[in-house]
Amino acid sequence: MKLVTAVVRPENFGAVKDALERHGVQGMTVLSVHGYGRQRGHREVYRGAEYTVDLLEKVRIETVVTDAEAQDVVSVVVAAARTGEPGDGKVWVTHVEHAVRVSTGERDDAAL
Ligand SMILES: Nc1ncnc2c1ncn2[C@@H]1O[C@H](COP(=O)(O)OP(=O)(O)OP(=O)(O)O)[C@@H](O)[C@H]1O
Ligand SMILES: [Mg+2]
Repeated sequence: MKLVTAVVRPENFGAVKDALERHGVQGMTVLSVHGYGRQRGHREVYRGAEYTVDLLEKVRIETVVTDAEAQDVVSVVVAAARTGEPGDGKVWVTHVEHAVRVSTGERDDAAL
């Protein structure tokens, strides 16, 4: 299994959620977060000038999927979240060792 984590613009979250639901993910966890990337929260990079780091509002989406599904899920998120401007977000994939569906005791792929 893989954990696909995506950090996207709040205004694009609805499109990402809809796209993931259409794709057929079994579940997701959504968090309101603050963060920064390469521009340190600024719209432009000020070369050589000192400036503060700003934390911008983002939405973090977590979905655990089968190994076979992971790359397709990444592609779905990227397609739905991209405007082509800085700040569109980031997606990363991590290995998941084990999962249990609490109500049934099912494990791993069957638990998703
Ligand atoms: N290396 C990172 N580690 C953890 N979180 C990150 C990282 N890079 C970006 N993020 C998270 O993703 C959000 C959006 O990042 P952002 O899209 O600005 O990435 P970027 O690398 O600066 O790309 P771009 O140049 O397209 O803006 C950040 O606000 C932060 O929450
Ligand atoms: Mg950025």
